[in-house]
Amino acid sequence: MKFFTIRYNSRKNEIVILDQKRLPEKETYLRLRTVQQVYNAIRDMNLRGAPLIGVAAGYGVVLAARLLKDPAKIIEAADYIGSARPTAVNLGWAITRMKKKLDKQPGLYNRLLKEARKIEQEDKTACLRIGKYGARLIKNNAKIMVHCNAGALATSGIGTALGVIYSAHRQGKKFVVYSCETRPLLQGARLTSWELTKNGIETCTICDNMAATFMPETDLVLVGADRIATNGDTANKIGTRGLAIIARYYKVPFYVAAPVSTFDFHIKTGKEIPIETRDENEIRKFNQKCIVAKRAKIYNPAFDVTPARLINGIITEKGIIKPPYKRHIAGINKIR
Ligand code: MRU
Repeated sequence: MKFFTIRYNSRKNEIVILDQKRLPEKETYLRLRTVQQVYNAIRDMNLRGAPLIGVAAGYGVVLAARLLKDPAKIIEAADYIGSARPTAVNLGWAITRMKKKLDKQPGLYNRLLKEARKIEQEDKTACLRIGKYGARLIKNNAKIMVHCNAGALATSGIGTALGVIYSAHRQGKKFVVYSCETRPLLQGARLTSWELTKNGIETCTICDNMAATFMPETDLVLVGADRIATNGDTANKIGTRGLAIIARYYKVPFYVAAPVSTFDFHIKTGKEIPIETRDENEIRKFNQKCIVAKRAKIYNPAFDVTPARLINGIITEKGIIKPPYKRHIAGINKIR
């Protein structure tokens, strides 16, 4: 990758992140030095994408340990960071993992740093494996539709759905990517088109409402995930369910790519997934200009849930999971 999304600088006690709110105009990096800054960066989406939020949460707890010392206060800070966004399970998963390392023994900071680095390394490795397993789904000269950004920008590695695309590209396959713009925050238009073109992938950005028009000529739909229930129901960026419905109508295979850390083994179905509702101004305003009548109401759910029956397979670092999901997801939880 020609950029990095996150780095922890232990000499300066700061987390350095690529500021995704400024892309594609500016490639600038932010330095996070307090727990509040980490919380704000996650909530305001200076960094985003389920796996990357998990990695940032890990380093957020390291930062808290450096600043606060007292384990009770570190736990409070960890829970605060964990409350920044509700849907991506990787956030709570990383916080729980970090909290398990918290005790009163000497060397706490180093133990936490080691765990956070481990979370980052595992994410990188998972992305590479997802890429390897998923690349076989991409045929030469394929047209692939993607939604939101499930790329290197959403992880600390090469990405999940886009990791599959990078792997196929490295194998010499030729293809075109249709990237849905992803209203309201335009992760597809701003982020996916930026990272794919930067890496030499032919990319065509389309408006979300063009998906049905381009679906008949599409060979594969690839999306990421923020939380997957044990029956395979998958929460991802709002609009994903619509794509899955259109894909099924036109008999286009629809695949989810996600690491095992994105599975929520505590919930049975997608009905139990908390869906984040974001500020109405994300829709009301465009480039700081009001574009909606003042008296009109706004709904802004940030995610939707795609029923498992519309998903042809889930690409993970442990292989591609196929239906029946209940049985196969339970199986993946046992593989270590
Ligand atoms: O609101 P965002 O930009 O954090 O939403 C991101 C997505 O929906 C991604 O598809 C998902 O997190 C998977 S990232 C590998």
